[in-house]
Amino acid sequence: MTRRNFIESTGATYATLLAWGLLKPAPAEAFNLPANGSKDGKARKVVVLGAGLAGLTTAYELGKLGYDCTVLEARSRSGGRVWTVRGGTKETEVGGPEQVCKFAAGQYFNGGAARIPHNHQLTLHYCRELGVPLEIFNGGNESAWLYNEGGTGTLANKRMRIREYHSDLRGYTSELLAKALDQSSLDQQLTKEDVEKLVDFLKNEGDLNTGKLYKGTNRRGYKNPPGAGAIPGDLTDPYGLTDYLRSGYMQPVFYNNGDYTFEQHSTLLQPVGGMDAIPKALEKKLVGKIQFNAPVKELRKTENGVRVVYQKDGKSAELTAEFCVCTLPLPVLKKIDSDLSPIVKRAADFIPYMKTGKIGLQFKRRFWEEDDAIYGGISRTNMDINQIWYPSFGLMGQKGVLIGYYNFYSRAEAVGDLTLAAREKMALEQGYKIHPQYPQEFENSFSLAWQRIPYNEGGWAVYDDTVRRKYYPALLEPDGNIYFAGEHTTYLTAWMAGAFTSARRVVDALHARVGEYTKK
Ligand code: PHE
Repeated sequence: MTRRNFIESTGATYATLLAWGLLKPAPAEAFNLPANGSKDGKARKVVVLGAGLAGLTTAYELGKLGYDCTVLEARSRSGGRVWTVRGGTKETEVGGPEQVCKFAAGQYFNGGAARIPHNHQLTLHYCRELGVPLEIFNGGNESAWLYNEGGTGTLANKRMRIREYHSDLRGYTSELLAKALDQSSLDQQLTKEDVEKLVDFLKNEGDLNTGKLYKGTNRRGYKNPPGAGAIPGDLTDPYGLTDYLRSGYMQPVFYNNGDYTFEQHSTLLQPVGGMDAIPKALEKKLVGKIQFNAPVKELRKTENGVRVVYQKDGKSAELTAEFCVCTLPLPVLKKIDSDLSPIVKRAADFIPYMKTGKIGLQFKRRFWEEDDAIYGGISRTNMDINQIWYPSFGLMGQKGVLIGYYNFYSRAEAVGDLTLAAREKMALEQGYKIHPQYPQEFENSFSLAWQRIPYNEGGWAVYDDTVRRKYYPALLEPDGNIYFAGEHTTYLTAWMAGAFTSARRVVDALHARVGEYTKK
């Protein structure tokens, strides 16, 4: 039997083959294109709009191929939505006051991108290539809290550990299915042996007792933990199934957690010291190529390429190039005077962006670790704060910054509309219901609403099928000599991997086009 016959006969999937070691995982490869980015011995000029990940990566990769890139960046920093907030970080939202972060030395939170899925190989490839050290980002934590505000019955306004919720609901659903199987109500589809195997599985899945009943087990934790001598540990009692059903705890915010989401499966990663280590490493590869504090005002097509008008030191400046790679987020692009074609302008006008916000809360003491044994992970609630993120770094340290809310859509809009003080108050009042330690331990906060942050005005592009069909294709073709990159030009919206892959797509397309020119 050949290896191929064997594999075919097993019906093994790609994942199985990987697990058996019969296939090498496909790591994102180095981007090896033949270098010929010059014309008549001179490097071709490309102007890149935006020094976020897409813009930086475009300039980095084109630079390797011999192009002469200039990156125009409106801000005084690179990274765009890859932004780490630390003591001294300043931001002024549209129509808001200047906010200066007061975190202690060593404390920070990632205001934008904050987790790297292990299956985003391209992001990991760039971390490897750029020498950005990573550490584990703890996403799922069975010890974190769920809190349903309101509801009825014994579970109304009662916080519970995620492990209690998972154990109880797995227990009851397994018990019900085991009973149904016992009553032969499913036996048209299953043989007797099948039923036995399934019931065995359910006993484990739900941790059912020998009578196939769910009575709660140590999966959901202890009232008093086991100890030395005559201390076996006291179990907790499970909450009742009907209590769950009537409590409000069946809402998606509680059950649709990270375990069910491909990008949130363990293991997640993060750069040591803050996500901005990635743009900073790219910046080092682009010394002298980035113009900061240079917001773009006009984007023009010329006979031979492009002309970009921008602001520099309060004056108007301009730059001409053969090509432009525009990575500006669409809410920003749509306000710029340009010669872009109507279909691109329509895409910029109609592709909606997520409203989303976060607040970093600095506390004197890491009470979530000391009192609650929570080391990283996420608590979830139906209140406006939506989530609380515990830091995965600096464990056991003195102070700590947690993310006191991370919300989306209309909630994020409403919270973003509040003053900074009112956002802080809301985060503290709601968080208090999960962590009564808040008032005692709180020190200071820094909040952001991406829809109000200049040069972004949104979290990420939000596509549904119609928007994808009607507007997305316009962003994939070059508009004359202007190419588009950024997460909004991918199916990996809202992820750094989207920015990276978009940059490579555009570099590939531009370079292939130039190759064709020189062939003629
Ligand atoms: N990538 C972002 C995050 O990890 C936004 C996102 C949230 C994307 C949830 C998909 C699902 O928070």
